[in-house]
Amino acid sequence: MLITIEGIDGCGKTTSAEYLVSKLRDRGLKVIHTRELGGTQLAEILRELVITDIYSSSGLTDLLMAFASRMDHVEKVIKPALDAGEVVICERFIDSTYAYQLTDPSYKDNLSLVRGLFYDLEVIIKKHIRDYHTLYLDIPIEESTKRLVGRKLDKFEKDQAIQCRVVKGYSDRIAQDPKRFLRVNANQSLEGVKVELDVIVEKISTSLISPEEPDFLT
Ligand code: TMP
Repeated sequence: MLITIEGIDGCGKTTSAEYLVSKLRDRGLKVIHTRELGGTQLAEILRELVITDIYSSSGLTDLLMAFASRMDHVEKVIKPALDAGEVVICERFIDSTYAYQLTDPSYKDNLSLVRGLFYDLEVIIKKHIRDYHTLYLDIPIEESTKRLVGRKLDKFEKDQAIQCRVVKGYSDRIAQDPKRFLRVNANQSLEGVKVELDVIVEKISTSLISPEEPDFLT
């Protein structure tokens, strides 16, 4: 089973992922914790190219690098783990490419071609994945911005306008595939978030025992 964790920067993905991983391991499950962009040597190199301004790159270049990075990660890490029956907890996945790259305003006349390209690449990636669910850590931009104070920011985190279009991107994406998503209220204390995550741990564990229930998060 693949569980991806999505949300704007500063929403608490890493803390939530670490909590989920430890709770699932406590239940005796084999779990790997990985992230995108990244998760393999090649993918980590591509991550640096996308998220920094070392070489300035367009939205389309970033989209292609994100999918190249993802293909390597899926082939080398995610698919082998899923084939071995492990639970994969991945911070960010295809929804991030939708929210960060597909909402880039620069495509102009090529938008429908780029959208087509995105969905084709998504189909290829999803051929390697069957049981796939996503937690969306929901938090207002003002709160996430406060949490980012003092951190070294990447090129997306630095720009408030990008954060706004990312939120819109996520909301469109959730509307396109609502059954895959489970919304977690990330705008509360860590203890409150953990209570919501405990319910999800229970559902994941139960569904692994009864795999005939595919929409277990809904
Ligand atoms: P992180 O700080 O959550 O690790 O994410 C790193 C940055 O990568 C974040 O600002 C969003 C960006 N990103 C993309 O632009 N496209 C993608 O496909 C992914 C997975 C992340």
